Amino acid sequence: MKLTILGAPGAGKGTQARTLAEHFKIAHISTGDILRRFTGGEVSDDTMPEKAELDEIMRKGDLVPDDVIFSLLKTRLESDDCARGYVLDGFPRSIAQAKLFGNEGYRFDAAVSISVRDEIIVERISGRTACEHCGRVYHRIYHPPKNEGDCDECGNELMQRNDDKVQSVVNRLKIYHEVTKPIIEFYRAQGILYEVDGEGSVGDITESIKALLLDV
Ligand code: AP5
Ligand code: ZN
Repeated sequence: MKLTILGAPGAGKGTQARTLAEHFKIAHISTGDILRRFTGGEVSDDTMPEKAELDEIMRKGDLVPDDVIFSLLKTRLESDDCARGYVLDGFPRSIAQAKLFGNEGYRFDAAVSISVRDEIIVERISGRTACEHCGRVYHRIYHPPKNEGDCDECGNELMQRNDDKVQSVVNRLKIYHEVTKPIIEFYRAQGILYEVDGEGSVGDITESIKALLLDV
């Protein structure tokens, strides 16, 4: 099974992708997480632009260049744990990226679009905390950890992402509407689009997605 999850920043792509990856026993690949690990120093590649440059692009909420993101993604797609399939979260983010993916010989079985109104997005992102160690995502109200401030999985201290400030979120939403959203029609035209309302509970949304994917 090869999936991509589409949706605005904070729509719940990462939250759902993680559960779907466990359910289908496929790899979860978040391009945002790959970039954060790269700029945080865990991955080294001398051919890439300066890490500080990428860090600044992400902090502002702009998109990093297509060749940079695709080069990092391709390495991951070719790794052994993707042999059974994968669920991408954060890619593609433009029609150009969707075409690049196809032109390089990759394809999805399904594209799942999660829709959430902008006012709810801002509330979700401002309450989000995340574990930099294992990547688990929490919300101060909707999905609090058992011990305040610590990751349930590994006990690490939870942090707020440095692109989760209001100005960056506003910019990310603008880019989503202008550059990313047209991908929905691109995959609808290919007959692989599955749409889900992203404003219910996390568990209900997971069940809706699983039901939609039964025929895939
Ligand atoms: P990325 O990390 O992909 O960020 P994003 O798209 O802005 O998405 P988020 O991670 O903010 O949200 P999400 O939809 O995963 O929601 P989550 O599950 O966390 O990208 C970051 C940056 O990297 C980009 O701005 C760009 O610069 C760069 N980048 C990445 N990919 C790129 C690409 N392909 N090309 C170019 N640049 C790229 O949920 C959000 C919160 O809500 C959490 O607190 C969660 O607990 C809570 N929540 C989730 N579901 C529910 C629910 N149903 N009810 C209540 N709360 C919920
Ligand atoms: Zn953790």
